[in-house]
Amino acid sequence: MKKSYDKLASLFKRKGYIWGPSPEIYEGGVAGFYDLGPLGTMLWRKVADTVRMNYFEHSFYEITAPLIMPKKVWEASGHLGGFTDPLIKCIKCGSVYRTDKLITGLFPKEEVDGLTYKEYDEKIEKLGIKCLKCKMQLSRTVPQDMMLKTTIGLDKEAYLRPETATTTYLPFKRYYEFFRRKLPFGVFQLGKAFRNEISPRHGLIRTREFNQAEAQLFIFKGDKNKWEAWSEFKDAELNLYSCKLQGRGLRKPKQVLLKDAVKNKLLQSKAYAACLGICYKIVLDLGFNPKRLRFRQHFPNERAFYALDAWDIEWHSDFFGWVELAGVHDRCDYDLKQHAKFSGQDLRVLNNGRKEVPHILEIAFGIERLVYCLLEQCYDEEKERTVLRLPPHMAPITIMVFPLLNKDKIPEKAKEVEDFLLEEDFYAEYDGTGSIGRRYRRADEAGTPFCITIDHQTLEDDSVTVRDRDSMKQLRVKISELPEFIEMAVSGEIDF
Ligand code: GAP
Repeated sequence: MKKSYDKLASLFKRKGYIWGPSPEIYEGGVAGFYDLGPLGTMLWRKVADTVRMNYFEHSFYEITAPLIMPKKVWEASGHLGGFTDPLIKCIKCGSVYRTDKLITGLFPKEEVDGLTYKEYDEKIEKLGIKCLKCKMQLSRTVPQDMMLKTTIGLDKEAYLRPETATTTYLPFKRYYEFFRRKLPFGVFQLGKAFRNEISPRHGLIRTREFNQAEAQLFIFKGDKNKWEAWSEFKDAELNLYSCKLQGRGLRKPKQVLLKDAVKNKLLQSKAYAACLGICYKIVLDLGFNPKRLRFRQHFPNERAFYALDAWDIEWHSDFFGWVELAGVHDRCDYDLKQHAKFSGQDLRVLNNGRKEVPHILEIAFGIERLVYCLLEQCYDEEKERTVLRLPPHMAPITIMVFPLLNKDKIPEKAKEVEDFLLEEDFYAEYDGTGSIGRRYRRADEAGTPFCITIDHQTLEDDSVTVRDRDSMKQLRVKISELPEFIEMAVSGEIDF
């Protein structure tokens, strides 16, 4: 059945996943700002924890840095003046658009990746694109600064960080001591970033305030083929869409083993390839469908100013086409050299007796994008019901507990079962209102994978029914065996 975006967005609102734009009660809110409701926040936490645990498993340590930094930091990083989006304006009514998104919004099949501003304007002319509001002619494309400005104290110019990465680089000398002067080492931050996007669109996909989970590996240039994580990923097979394939107009990426990609110089080092491997593992752990994933390499003129090489992991949305979930960047020695220059501090460290500025490899996720894309992937409209097929380990509420009838001590027994499951560390909730059918539908829409029903038989033999959201089948299970049963069901080991 063809899905409807309006229905999906209204379900996410109704079930407490995504609200906004925020603040809704003031003139309908401001574009690019959203609230996550109770279930949205619970899902956000699970997504963030999955990314965090993967970084920990690959020896990255977490730090927390300020969100605001003085102007000088952003001059050094290159963001002031260099962090821009292509903006186009209506010459009559003044409406503004992000040029690349305007083109792909109207012509989804048009390729815009890697185009220069002049090429954007040529496309706008060739395709006859006019202002969406008043149909008048558009200006030329110009760069628009995305930094959000503020003031520290009375007059110190400062900016909200547009990425966590830069603020992770600044304590480099502290890390060097903390890691006992031994490279490589990894550090990550999970926290807010702010961008003054020209035309924030598509709900959580492009907002002005969002969370990033960005891991940074500090490694000497000569050691980029020696990182230990490589052994875990060398046999991983990824769907790679290189510049070469894109440039030749072959629209299909190729399945490539990471070890072959490094051998053929498609990827420049084993450490960088391992970063792609970690990124892929995270996305699979979250439950994304591998058939809808690809890694797309940036064209040289599309890469951020700091990147030597860049590949994005992209997921295919039914409504918005390919969406970037994360970027993997080889930032070489750009950042530390810039901060050394602007701060006047020597950020070189000893490598076999010689002083050297390390390189940085980065895995950059946005958490809210993961949340939206996972929700969209799991949203399903069936004839009889709407269901959110979240992987059981990601669902905010794992189990709903229902009394079949509100009499004969059945509700009391159901409360006992709920308490028992909570004590066993499952997230369970009681619901005794409405018909049992309606309660199942509510749970299906919220993405709850299992519903337990307590009936007269429960009072006799301490057994309950467990209903599986996806197959809608039920099994009878003893209350004492529920913890083991639910654990197995969450990991997909029960065949309903
Ligand atoms: N430190 C590198 C960096 O910031 P990026 O590709 O600009 O790289 C990384 O951003 C991730 O942050 C993206 O893959 C995306 O998931 C998320 N992101 C970027 N801009 C965003 C926005 N306006 N709204 C929501 N998420 C965004």
